[in-house]
Formats: sequence, structure tokens, C-alpha cells
Amino acid sequence: MEKIKMTTPIVEMDGDEMTRILWKLIRENLIEPYVDLKTEYYDLSIQSRDETDDQIVKDAANAIKKYGVGVKCATITANKARQVEYNLKNIFPSPNGTLRAMLDGTVFRAPIIVKGIEPYIPTWKKPITIARHAYGDIYKAVDYKVEEAGKAEIVFTNESGEEAMRKTVFDYKGPGVLMGMHNVNASIESFARSCFNYALDTKQDLWFCAKDTISKIYDGEFKAVFEEIFEKEYKEKFEEANITYFYTLIDDAIARVVKSEGGFVWACKNYDGDVMSDMIATAFGSLAMMTSVLVSPYGYYEYEAAHGTVQRHYQNYLKGEKTSTNPVATIFAWTGALRKRGEMDSNNELMAFADRLENATIKTIESGKMTKDLALITKMERPEMLYSEEFIQAIKNTLDGKIETVEEDPLETKIINEFLDAKLYKEKIDILNKYKDKLTDKLITSFAVSLDVVVDEGSLDKRFESLQSCVEQMAKFETTGLR
Ligand SMILES: NC(=O)c1ccc[n+]([C@@H]2O[C@H](COP(=O)([O-])OP(=O)(O)OC[C@H]3O[C@@H](n4cnc5c(N)ncnc54)[C@H](O)[C@@H]3O)[C@@H](O)[C@H]2O)c1
Repeated sequence: MEKIKMTTPIVEMDGDEMTRILWKLIRENLIEPYVDLKTEYYDLSIQSRDETDDQIVKDAANAIKKYGVGVKCATITANKARQVEYNLKNIFPSPNGTLRAMLDGTVFRAPIIVKGIEPYIPTWKKPITIARHAYGDIYKAVDYKVEEAGKAEIVFTNESGEEAMRKTVFDYKGPGVLMGMHNVNASIESFARSCFNYALDTKQDLWFCAKDTISKIYDGEFKAVFEEIFEKEYKEKFEEANITYFYTLIDDAIARVVKSEGGFVWACKNYDGDVMSDMIATAFGSLAMMTSVLVSPYGYYEYEAAHGTVQRHYQNYLKGEKTSTNPVATIFAWTGALRKRGEMDSNNELMAFADRLENATIKTIESGKMTKDLALITKMERPEMLYSEEFIQAIKNTLDGKIETVEEDPLETKIINEFLDAKLYKEKIDILNKYKDKLTDKLITSFAVSLDVVVDEGSLDKRFESLQSCVEQMAKFETTGLR
């Protein structure tokens, strides 16, 4: 099969820990066999950022400005503990913060919807994308703990040193708290344009909400900026695309969101977006199924997974253990970037490949094969828990048209359910012994993944013994009184 050609590179930003391991697996198994991949590679691992005094992040941002599209692996945001762990010279700021500052964008987060991983809200049928304004308000506020009676004032002095405004905030009769926050029109305008562009790109309605009935000037300005830009620059484009923009109060928006079937972009002010994006991610099922794209008002796009580097799994990986880390959001970061590259270069084949890979990923999960995080929340009767490598291989099989049809086997379902429902390891040992003759390789793998253990390779008997010995070890440390 001839590989799909690319004309312009994608800016590829490698990252840290478990997601770095997944990155290589995804690239080698799901992309390189099909696409003659052209990337400009930047290593944003914590070691590389430290060695280059963070210059590598700035170089990557400039490359995105040059080529228009980037894809990023999750990276560690350094702190004191990480400085010690990785022996770093410095604690550099979050790479995402640096990229956002240089590309001036808005982050859009959308869940990946799969049958069997149902949202907690049953009416939600399509994804809800949160667009969070990422500048100012309480995140850049000045606050003060008032200890005594006194007057708080707000003063604005213009550049010529004249006092243009002075207002009393409050006459304190005793202790209290005080805060002053700000925003700037340039940032609100770029937020609005990013939202309108994203809605057009994805052909979804745009909702924007604030609380201008109470915050008449502050939130009123957000509302006015959105309205003015929409009327002047986007109204006709929205009509052509058959999508709508509407503004509503945040309380009304929340009521409508809960009752909706999804399928729109929900633009929120900074704090509202902070709170609502966690609500949306949780209500849709899993952080590992959340995509994230930074859209700059200048037409640059940077795709990534919403989750972090999955440090806990990496610690297991370093001990030589296999992990069942979910690669879906990282796969979708790649497909997002490939599709956008295809769109910019009028490369239909590349766009179609991105669709195929996404469909293959979803189909694989819907066929019952998934990583542990999904198996624990799925409504499917008989999920097959796989390690990351096997799950990626299963996606590749689906992509290659080698779909295994899974015969419904009631006994297998019964054994899995009994094993997962058993609260004590001692009970699990009994179940293993009871069904010893009925166990298959697939069942042994599912049990091992569910327990976070790795069984020896080899014959079925050898694998059974290895699993049995792991569960026996666990049973030794089981203290029933503590449960
Ligand atoms: N976009 C980014 O680059 C980004 C975002 C968040 C955190 N981080 C960094 O990641 C590191 C780890 O942070 P964290 O542990 O708070 O967040 P995390 O998202 O890596 O993991 C939090 C928990 O969520 C679950 N989880 C997340 N992704 C998963 C996946 N793909 N498969 C299975 N389970 C998954 C795991 O239970 C994990 O323990 C930190 O150093 C942080 O700075 C980076």
C-alpha cells in the first residue's frame, strides 16, 4: 500500500513519562505505516527544556507560527519536587503556558464519545466543547484581607497621571476581604475571534454566557465585544455555515446545557470555564477521553490530550511492568493535527486518514476492547481489558480491516463478572480454581490488567500459574479487618 504523502510538516512536540512511551507507540504503529510523515521534531521533555534553558519551547512555538499546526505530547510542569526528581537547574514555567502566551490562543476541550462509555447525563448525545478564556479576572487579581474598619476605593490614574476615576468599593465597619481584578479588550477580542473561528471550523453552534445583569460593566463588556465582532465579522459566515451564535446568562446556560443533547461550543469566562470544564469532563466519563486544542486568532492550531503524563503508570513502567494507559486522547491529538494539516494543504487523503484512524479507535472500544480506566466505567457487559500496546495493536487491526468478531459467550461473561465482583483476593483465588479448565488467554489478560499485575508469557498453564501466584501474594497482605 502506498503511503499518504504530506507537503508541509507538522510541528511535533514530544513530552514526558508514560505519554512519551505512548507517543512512540502511536507514531510507529498507527501513523507511520500509513502516512509518509513529515514533522519538525521538538523534544519538550523536562530534561531537554532544562538543557536548553526552555528555549526549545519557544523554538517550537515559533515553528507553529511558521507551519500553522502542531501536536504536543503531555509534559511535566516543573515544581520543587520535580526539580529534585530530575535534577533540574531551574523550574521553568509550564510549556503550555509559554505556548499559549506566544500563540495567543483559547483552549477548546471536547470529550470523545463512545457507545458503552455513557455520560452521566442521559440526554447528552454529542460532545460539548468548552472554550475557556485563559486571561485575567480572579487569576490575575489583587486581593486584601481587611483587618479593621475603613474605606476601600477603586482608583484609575491615566498615563498622564490624572485621576480619571475614583469610586468607593465599600465602607468597612470591621474585618472583611477585598479584591480588584481586571481584563483587557485585546484579550477578550482574541478570545471571541478564536471561539467564532472554532465554531465555524467544527460547524457547531456557539453559546457564550456571563452575568451582565449583575456585572453590568465588566461582564457587559465581554457581551458587547462578542456581539460587535459577531455582527461585523462573522454573522454572514455563520449563516452560510447554518450555525448560530447566542448569548445568555450563565445560570440560564447551565440549565440549557444540562437539558441539551450536546453538539455545541460553550464559551466561558476564565473562572466559569475552569469550573465547567471539569464538570463536563467528569460528566462525560473520563479525563483520558478529553481532547484539547489551542486555537490562536492568527490561525495557528496546537493539538494535545487534556490529561497529564500519567506519572503513576510511568513508575510501574520503570519497574518493568506493562501498563494499561489509555492512548485515545493522544491518538486524537495526532488525528486533529493531521486533519488540520490536510485541510490547510488541500490534502484530502490525509484528512480521510485522520477520520479513519478516529473511527477505528472508537470501533475498537465499541467492540469491547479497551484499557482499564474505561473497562471500569463502561456499561458493556464483557469488556476486554488490554495493556496499552495490545490496545494499540487492536486499533491497528481494526484500521487494517481485520476486525475480530467477538462471539457472545455467556460463561466468559459470568466468570469475568464473578472475578471483578469478588471483594477479597482469597475469593478471587477460589474463582480461578473453580474455573481453571475454562480460562482462556483473553480472560487471564483481563484479570491481570484488572489487578495491575503482569503475568509471564508462555502456555496457558504457565500464565495461569503466574496469575495464581500473583493473587496469592496479594492475598497474603490482605487484612480483612481493614476493609
Ligand atoms: N497538558 C499537559 O501537558 C499536562 C496536563 C496536566 C498535567 N500535566 C503534568 O502531568 C504530570 C502528572 O500529573 P497528574 O498526575 O496530576 O495528571 P494526569 O492527568 O497525568 O493523571 C491523573 C490521573 O488520571 C488518570 N489518567 C489520566 N490520564 C490517563 C490515561 N491516559 N490513562 C489512564 N488513566 C489516566 C490516572 O488515574 C492518573 O493517576 C504532572 O507533572 C503535571 O505537571 C501535564
